[in-house]
Amino acid sequence: MVRQTGKQTPRGTARLVLICVGLLGIGLIADFFWASSSRFNTSLSFSNTWSPPPNTALLSLPSKAKSKEEKGKNESQRVLLSATFADLPAPELKWDKMADAPVPRLDGAAIQIKDLLFVFAGYGTIDLVHSHVDIYNFTDNTWGGRFDMPKEMAHSHLGMVTDGRYIYVVTGQYGPQCRGPTAHTFVLDTETKTWQDLPPLPVPRYAPATQLWRGRLHVMGGSKENRHTPGLEHWSIAVKDGKALEKEWRSEIPIPRGGPHRACVVFKDRLYVIGGQEGDFMAKPGSPIFKCSRRNEVVYSDVYMLDDEMKWKTLPPMPKPDSHIEFAWAIVNNSIVIIGGTTDKHPVTKKMILVGEVFQFNLDTLKWSVIGKLPFRVKTTLVGYWKGWLYFTSGQRDRGPDDPAPKKVIGEMWRTKLKLNP
Ligand SMILES: *[C@@H]1O[C@H](CO)[C@@H](O)[C@H](O)[C@H]1NC(C)=O
Ligand SMILES: *[C@@H]1O[C@H](CO)[C@@H](O)[C@H](O)[C@H]1NC(C)=O
Ligand SMILES: *[C@@H]1O[C@H](CO)[C@@H](O)[C@H](O)[C@H]1NC(C)=O
Repeated sequence: MVRQTGKQTPRGTARLVLICVGLLGIGLIADFFWASSSRFNTSLSFSNTWSPPPNTALLSLPSKAKSKEEKGKNESQRVLLSATFADLPAPELKWDKMADAPVPRLDGAAIQIKDLLFVFAGYGTIDLVHSHVDIYNFTDNTWGGRFDMPKEMAHSHLGMVTDGRYIYVVTGQYGPQCRGPTAHTFVLDTETKTWQDLPPLPVPRYAPATQLWRGRLHVMGGSKENRHTPGLEHWSIAVKDGKALEKEWRSEIPIPRGGPHRACVVFKDRLYVIGGQEGDFMAKPGSPIFKCSRRNEVVYSDVYMLDDEMKWKTLPPMPKPDSHIEFAWAIVNNSIVIIGGTTDKHPVTKKMILVGEVFQFNLDTLKWSVIGKLPFRVKTTLVGYWKGWLYFTSGQRDRGPDDPAPKKVIGEMWRTKLKLNP
């Protein structure tokens, strides 16, 4: 799955069919030629504006970049895919816009404890990361209570979980752009707002799946130290009341598929790992600022579960591939509810596609459903649930209803009355 990271050779001149989609998706205008030097190596959406090239009305079809359906068909048979083809039918929901977070955040982290949502870290822009915590109170719907994170704590791609008082904070990326990870691990006592060290992970990871299960802090998957290669390793350490009971992490059964940005929950004594991806942006070789450059990514819909047998079981997959959902979920009654994310890139344009649906997975019946539409497509949302209301804040939203590629990093907070399927 791992792509070469060396310099790419030019792929030569590829013939293009340039299709004007326009607002209604019509019309074939012209053929032309395009020198395609790289499909993934361009530092696409991570420039100053966080956006891919301004090419919203045009779909280009390089002959080397056909989707599966396209393969084996000649030109006259090619199907035109609109930019929004990945959207699933979903019920409309009424969303209320609440107070904006003090800062916008991409790749932040969040943990809900009772009526408080603790929101950590994240990128403000690609060149600026946050090193503090903001708190949203679901009872009076206000932000407040800002406090600092430890200076050594990672700023994005964190693993994080709570026991209801202590928040365990594992590894992650240290600094802006596509900088290296740290193995440093902390615990926050949310009552005293004090931080302590925990034994560092054996090696650092980006955005590993993280949960507390049977008295142990479990950390699995994520990307390896180069930010791209999926890690399969799984470690755990015994913890209680914010303290490690052991000096070292121990190895556990590796996860069947590695990679970052997955939802991970424990429900009725079973551990679930949901969605995610293989591959991620990497630092451009030699770049003094570790400039992010895009690499191939495979987003998946896989769901895995561990129970008494301590063997991974495969469960019904998500309605579509979904990644960047590690803090985008809430458990309500017997279901996990997941908001937004990223799905597989557009097969033709290769642009990143954001997710605009709310998913429900009933952990008793193991049934997925699409239970609503978001006000826009958005990734790395931070989610909470309180007294009938489903909330999300932060993340990076789409360019508009007709363009699911990522654009603005937001701090908005939204809520809707949650209606679950039985
Ligand atoms: C392309 O497919 C169409 C429809 O099957 C066929 O009529 C046509 O001859 C094909 N053209 C080429 C160049 O193979
Ligand atoms: C949230 O706000 C309500 C109303 O102001 C307050 O009574 C409550 O104590 C706050 N929650 C916490 C945990 O501080
Ligand atoms: C959760 O279950 C309770 C008890 O059955 C029910 O009253 C409530 O409406 C459910 N919540 C949602 C969001 O469906």
